[in-house]
Amino acid sequence: PNLEKFVDRLPLAEKIRPVREEGGIAYYEVTMEEFWQKLHRDLRPTRLWGYNRSFPGPLFDVPHGKKIRVKWTNHLPQRHFLPMDTTILDEMGTDFPEVRTVVHLHGGETEPDSDGYPEAWFTRDFNKTGPDFKKEVYEYTNSQRPATLWYHDHAIGITRLNVYAGLAGMYIIRDPKEKAFHLPSGKYEIPLLLTDRTFNNDGSLFYPRQPQNPGPETPDPSVVPFFLGDTILVNGKVWPYLEVEPRKYRFRIVNASNTRAYRLYLDSGQAFYQIGTDGGLLRRPVQVENLALEPAERADLILDFSEYAGQTILLKNDLGPNADPADQTGDVMQFRVVLPVAGEDTSRIPRSLSSIPVPSSHNVSAIRHLKLTGATDSYGRPLLLLDKKRWMDPVTETPRLGTTEIWSLANTTAFTHPIHIHLIQFQILDRRPFDLDLYNETGQIVYTGPATPPEPNERGFKDTVAAPGGQITRVMMRFSPYAGDYVWHCHILEHEDYDMMRPFQVIDPDL
Ligand code: C2O
Repeated sequence: PNLEKFVDRLPLAEKIRPVREEGGIAYYEVTMEEFWQKLHRDLRPTRLWGYNRSFPGPLFDVPHGKKIRVKWTNHLPQRHFLPMDTTILDEMGTDFPEVRTVVHLHGGETEPDSDGYPEAWFTRDFNKTGPDFKKEVYEYTNSQRPATLWYHDHAIGITRLNVYAGLAGMYIIRDPKEKAFHLPSGKYEIPLLLTDRTFNNDGSLFYPRQPQNPGPETPDPSVVPFFLGDTILVNGKVWPYLEVEPRKYRFRIVNASNTRAYRLYLDSGQAFYQIGTDGGLLRRPVQVENLALEPAERADLILDFSEYAGQTILLKNDLGPNADPADQTGDVMQFRVVLPVAGEDTSRIPRSLSSIPVPSSHNVSAIRHLKLTGATDSYGRPLLLLDKKRWMDPVTETPRLGTTEIWSLANTTAFTHPIHIHLIQFQILDRRPFDLDLYNETGQIVYTGPATPPEPNERGFKDTVAAPGGQITRVMMRFSPYAGDYVWHCHILEHEDYDMMRPFQVIDPDL
């Protein structure tokens, strides 16, 4: 369908309230259900799966340091409404219930039993549970650095379908002390969750049944190596608009798309003031003209509309395949600076925000050399892997609790993979190009240039890093405060599902 842009108002996510307090700990309940929601003025309501019947799910906005509990329950149908490829779990040799779910708080410093391990899945009403299922009520301590997190489904083999169906929402750990900065707040602080989708004419979600040129051997349905929707949604509306006052606003943006990366800019030519990354505030604000966001990355931004009263500003994306004039994904949303100022704008862009340690390698216990690799499966399909290993292969990364490691990620494929590590926030050390052709011929890594430090707006804490093809991306982190089973993976959901995800285990030497 040809959908007119900027005809729907940007929806603002509703804040979830606890059901009750249990000895000072807020207790929430969230249900996954099938429901229908209008995503554009001219679209019939779309069948979705979401948390508490909304897409995106309800917004968690919790104070730093206050533990909460959440019971996530599954009231979804027994059959999926998107094309379900069962062959990608062939290797595991078990019968999986078709619809299984588990929730991961992305970027959260979470104990293993509450982290949403892919095999800790559960079905409707916890009827069946996966081998790693431990408990129904998850616990989040919120004691890490205050940050913009998000939550989404993480069930083994079907994360791409569950998230595409709508199982994603945002989660803010709020620092009460941040008030002292006088950042734009209240109605001037707006979370934005970006996704791309493709619609059928009847308003239903389209997701491909097979890759573009299936061979005779390709299963039907089959997982696809990537998915790019032709329509951009913000907070669950297609190309929405937002009416703003000529003043400063704070936007917390998450890229919740399956595969699509964005490079955002404003057609007014003005810059964003980026104040935070995945893991919280930067050292100081960084001016960025083009804001790159791989899947799962977040940016905390201030936008100043004070010079633009009466004008209309477009938030654009210059990473669409722009060669195709029919491609509309160069537009994201519209700001209309039409509201009268409700009062003097006393908010500020502070000069300094937070202290970020300079990464130093003198405490490093281990350096792990890991490759991002491509292979071919028995159906002739691309199979993307971490260090040539599949999900089911035994654990190979076993950092000790409390130690610091460098993970050196050599991307031997031709494209960027956003690599996400659970439990921790890391710092990016550098990226260094190597000769990919030579590597493909000989397996040798020969550098073709010097290492470059991360971009200024990447010099904070991160849990997802763009690892470009033909480069080695190095990150450093301390594995704490929990020991146990976690995962790391490519956050392109089509890759994560097949089979670019690996377990890692934090070992407590005292146990
Ligand atoms: Cu946002 Cu393991 O994922």
